[in-house]
Amino acid sequence: MMTANVQEFYHKPTNTFSYVVSDPESDAAVIIDPVLDYDHKSGRTGTASADTIAAYIQDKGFSVDWILETHAHADHLTAAPYLKGLVGAGIAIGEGIRTVQKNFVPVFNLKDLATDGSQFDRLFAEGDSFAIGGLTARVMSTPGHTSDSVTYVIGDAAFIGDTLFSPEYGTARVDFPGGDARLLYQSIQRLFSLPPETRLFLCHDYPPESRDETPMFTVARQRAENIHIHDGVDEAAFVTMREARDATLSMPALIIPSVQVNIRAGNMPSPEDNGVSYMKVPVNMLGKAL
Ligand SMILES: [Fe+2]
Repeated sequence: MMTANVQEFYHKPTNTFSYVVSDPESDAAVIIDPVLDYDHKSGRTGTASADTIAAYIQDKGFSVDWILETHAHADHLTAAPYLKGLVGAGIAIGEGIRTVQKNFVPVFNLKDLATDGSQFDRLFAEGDSFAIGGLTARVMSTPGHTSDSVTYVIGDAAFIGDTLFSPEYGTARVDFPGGDARLLYQSIQRLFSLPPETRLFLCHDYPPESRDETPMFTVARQRAENIHIHDGVDEAAFVTMREARDATLSMPALIIPSVQVNIRAGNMPSPEDNGVSYMKVPVNMLGKAL
């Protein structure tokens, strides 16, 4: 099997892994899930984290074919448009982004938002494939956490977004609009049917004090050890566990700004007549009653 070169970048404030995946035999590469620095207290954005990725790409002399999103994230803002400006690559996401957009239009009353995914350069469907130099990337639709979640399978590496987390942390929540525990179970079973040595790269890690953040666990390790969904856990038991757990979770700190930006492919809301972009806070729309 082809082996892709994978370099991870960990964004500590949001516990997010971004990746540069490259072809060992050419200069072709893709960027996966880059993060825009954002301070919610001040409303300031920054590009130091994205610049680290750009510097790595420049240092290696890579030619970037795509900036890939595994889904519309609810806990960080994407730096895809900033990096698109630097490296010239198109921004791609799963075609389920249309459903995510439709689900969030009423939450934020986004009357002018196109819900056809046209903010992105390419929408991937199940089974689509594309080249990264001599590597072939295959798109698996893996919904459940969100409607648009996809996994990019590149040689023996798979970039699984928010489906599985580390074995001791478990699986992604399914309580955002469009989330579905049954679909998440079925998507994870598809990941588990990949060859056991397949490297599954996480979008997040929330490590205990006893270890450093870890971007990758194999299919075999997850099937053996994932506390929510190891081999032998059936769909009904998983759904019961997942829904009970989600009922105890508070909203991610950055869901309100993240969703508004990420469903626009990372672009800020249109500036108002003073030239400033504003984000909305929907009052009493998200989360549980206090
Ligand atoms: Fe997510």
